[in-house]
Amino acid sequence: MTLFKGTDKISNLIHVNQFLLPVLNRFGIRLGFKDKNVSQLCNELSLNENFFLAIVNTYNNENYFPETDLLTFSPKLIVDYLQKTHFYYFDYLFPEVERRLDKMLASSITLSKDLQIIKQFYNKYKDELSNHIQEEETKVFPYIVALTNAWESGDEIPAKFSKYEMKSFEQEHTNVDQKIYDLKNIIIKYLHPTYNDNDCNSFLYSIFQFERDLLDHARIEDKILLNKVLQIEKQLKNG
Ligand SMILES: [Fe+2]
Ligand SMILES: [Fe+2]
Repeated sequence: MTLFKGTDKISNLIHVNQFLLPVLNRFGIRLGFKDKNVSQLCNELSLNENFFLAIVNTYNNENYFPETDLLTFSPKLIVDYLQKTHFYYFDYLFPEVERRLDKMLASSITLSKDLQIIKQFYNKYKDELSNHIQEEETKVFPYIVALTNAWESGDEIPAKFSKYEMKSFEQEHTNVDQKIYDLKNIIIKYLHPTYNDNDCNSFLYSIFQFERDLLDHARIEDKILLNKVLQIEKQLKNG
């Protein structure tokens, strides 16, 4: 398992795993960093280096769990990163996946019934994921920020959040993950190939990339954010 550290050149991170590019962008890191290493760039951009390393390592290794590192960070830092990821999905990934899906559908000689089913399945999946993200943006994340503020300042948590508990959060990820896997599988196994092969491959690549990013995103929410918030809830209740 490759573990990135502060002395690694940023360019090397991308040579090891090109899918880290959008992850770096979420930290405000853009190409053209010459031979700078992680520590130098984090310093220059006033980024928390340990947080940055924990995120890129979690992304790069499915089994990596930064027990001590990430759990020391403020949940607000994690929420900020997750919100940027949500924005990236709506601003870029969804439109890009749709552009490729439409190109594949347009390449088909006849718009067969099974191709229409793919579009319907995708639209249903998008609605479900959008609702999930909406729930996090409007309920879960504001609660986490309010809880963290109360924990840091010693003030009471605002009344509107007092009945909320993290226990009910994050039971949906398995469902959402399964659906994107099913979508790929229908195409790979059952779709009658009346489309242009290159257009279909291009659509599938974008789904694979989306799935990968989502799994990493859900892992950060389930394993890191949830644990951290449960700890804070416990401390506040016992405090
Ligand atoms: Fe999320
Ligand atoms: Fe989520």
